Amino acid sequence: MKKLTLLGGITPRQFLKEYWHKKPLLIRQAIPGFKPALSRDQLFEMARRDDVESRLICHFGKQWQMQHGPQGELPSLDKKGWTMLVQGVNLHDDKADALMQQFRFIPDSRLDDLMISYATDTGGVGPHFDSYDVFLLQAHGQRRWRIGPQKDLTLIEGMPLKILKNFQPEQEFVLEPGDMLYLPPHYAHDGIAVGECMTYSVGFRTPSYQELGEGFLQFMTESIELSGRYADPDLEMTNHPAEISRAMLSRVAAELEKIRFREEDIAIFLGEYLSEPKPTVFFTPPARPMTMERFTQAASKRGIVLSRKTRMLYRGKHLFINGESFMVSRSDKAALTALADGRRLDGAEIPQVSPDVLEALFTWYRDGWLELA
Ligand code: SIN
Ligand code: CO
Repeated sequence: MKKLTLLGGITPRQFLKEYWHKKPLLIRQAIPGFKPALSRDQLFEMARRDDVESRLICHFGKQWQMQHGPQGELPSLDKKGWTMLVQGVNLHDDKADALMQQFRFIPDSRLDDLMISYATDTGGVGPHFDSYDVFLLQAHGQRRWRIGPQKDLTLIEGMPLKILKNFQPEQEFVLEPGDMLYLPPHYAHDGIAVGECMTYSVGFRTPSYQELGEGFLQFMTESIELSGRYADPDLEMTNHPAEISRAMLSRVAAELEKIRFREEDIAIFLGEYLSEPKPTVFFTPPARPMTMERFTQAASKRGIVLSRKTRMLYRGKHLFINGESFMVSRSDKAALTALADGRRLDGAEIPQVSPDVLEALFTWYRDGWLELA
């Protein structure tokens, strides 16, 4: 495996073994000559859209204030101590998406999104911790990070955002454009802008087991099949008509214990769950879609690419795309897994796929889930 400048000259395997979930890593010039994907004004423009999640955080005096987007008028650029965070920029911008792709040594099922923050001098979100790992890439200007491994994660009550009560930083670094800081989950940190700055955060998904459990049970309601209906030919007379009898309880328990799930059910649930786009995501179908015939011809020549917004995963013979699952035949598997891993498929592959898959590709094209390359 290749050593990556992005990881300070170590291989992804080494990074995962030594740092991932374990300890911070500061990488000077992770991306030498880094140029921001978006200008300040483009970021502000994005924060005004209603299909983009954003937060404006003002720390004026001792007060913290937070306002969710879409943003209207922002404070003046001369005013110190405010920051604006825009979530999911990779869904809307090719350069931001390309940057995220560099982190695909970590699986798509774990990658969340690229957040971009803009801050005026002294701006930041306060000392806090996150429950996921994060890569903090300095994009423009300087930011001073103070970090610490503290166990006391008590937060100040009554704040509009998570602020640590007793922040005890142990290390401090000033990041320049192209520098990057990796932090494991629950590592306390505070990043303060030194003059105007922009920071990119590559964040990860860490669904709670509670959330997964609730989702799985909901998923299972669609697939359980129990036959028969309650019956009690042996019913006995009762002097306690309000009591649920032991006999009834045992009979129902015996039937419900027939509910079984296999690892394959969990795989299908996980694939559908993890490939489901966030509720704010809307796909843009082609304005004048081609006919199936024209699409097949054009795709065979040019190839296809997944939309930035499409989430595509697979496990065994199951393929998942934007919350839907499909069983894939052995002969189609190579092409579809190549599309999922590479997020594009060469034209030469298109005539090889079965008519069913071709039809699915056409539907995904019409829904804006993929495009011609
Ligand atoms: C920021 O970019 O200001 C905040 C990122 C973070 O601390 O997670
Ligand atoms: Co953070």
